[in-house]
Amino acid sequence: MKLTLKIWRQENATAKGKMVDYPIDGIEGDMSFLEMLDILNEQLVEKGEDTVEFDHDCREGICGSCSLQINGEPHGPDKLVATCQLHMRSFNDGDTIYIEPFRAKAFPVIKDLIVDRTAFDRIQQAWGYVSVNTSGNTVDANTIPVEKANADESFNAATCIGCGACVAACKNASAMLFTSAKVSQYALLPQGRIEATERVQAMVRQMDDEGFGNCSNTGACELECPKGISLDNIARMNREYLSASTKR
Ligand code: SF4
Ligand code: FES
Repeated sequence: MKLTLKIWRQENATAKGKMVDYPIDGIEGDMSFLEMLDILNEQLVEKGEDTVEFDHDCREGICGSCSLQINGEPHGPDKLVATCQLHMRSFNDGDTIYIEPFRAKAFPVIKDLIVDRTAFDRIQQAWGYVSVNTSGNTVDANTIPVEKANADESFNAATCIGCGACVAACKNASAMLFTSAKVSQYALLPQGRIEATERVQAMVRQMDDEGFGNCSNTGACELECPKGISLDNIARMNREYLSASTKR
């Protein structure tokens, strides 16, 4: 395949960025999108030019770092895949592909296609955990019965990989889907109920402090989420938040 790549280049967080054209040839359908970018970078190195910086780690849809806006869609045209799981067979010979970083005030560009998503880490740090009882009388979590339906829903919420596609897809750059997945994962388990009130308040407060927008109610986040995280989680978080607000 012969392609024209139009890639966002930006030297650093404060520099002005621009789209730059890169023609590329010899791309096979079985290559992953990131392998295609690897080939481009090898060619740039041979020419002595600055490589295109992009984030990646696991390359198997687990870590959530490979966040690219491809032809205007977070993670590109395929559904339920992260950018690293996207194959070039989803494109046609002669295509022009626009590749940009995720755009959100709370995700400032570090360089080229890499954005700073530590805002998500801070939301997690706010209370995205269960405190450990180290008294010596800790109950083994496996001995606490959990209703199967709740266990399944909690597990589904826990599959969120923190990629940020939900934010990039939302016209308000809202982080509600991400935050609600993290809140739900614990709200559905008896172990998580103990701190449920403090958790939802702390995580929502941090989400707002980071500058994410309000939920737009368009459902774009669910549509673009590589893990199929459901809007039901946002409804659950809203219920949790309302109930917490009446308690304190
Ligand atoms: S909810 Fe989906 S799109 Fe948002 S961070 Fe989690 S996995 Fe990514
Ligand atoms: S590189 Fe880890 S999810 Fe894509």
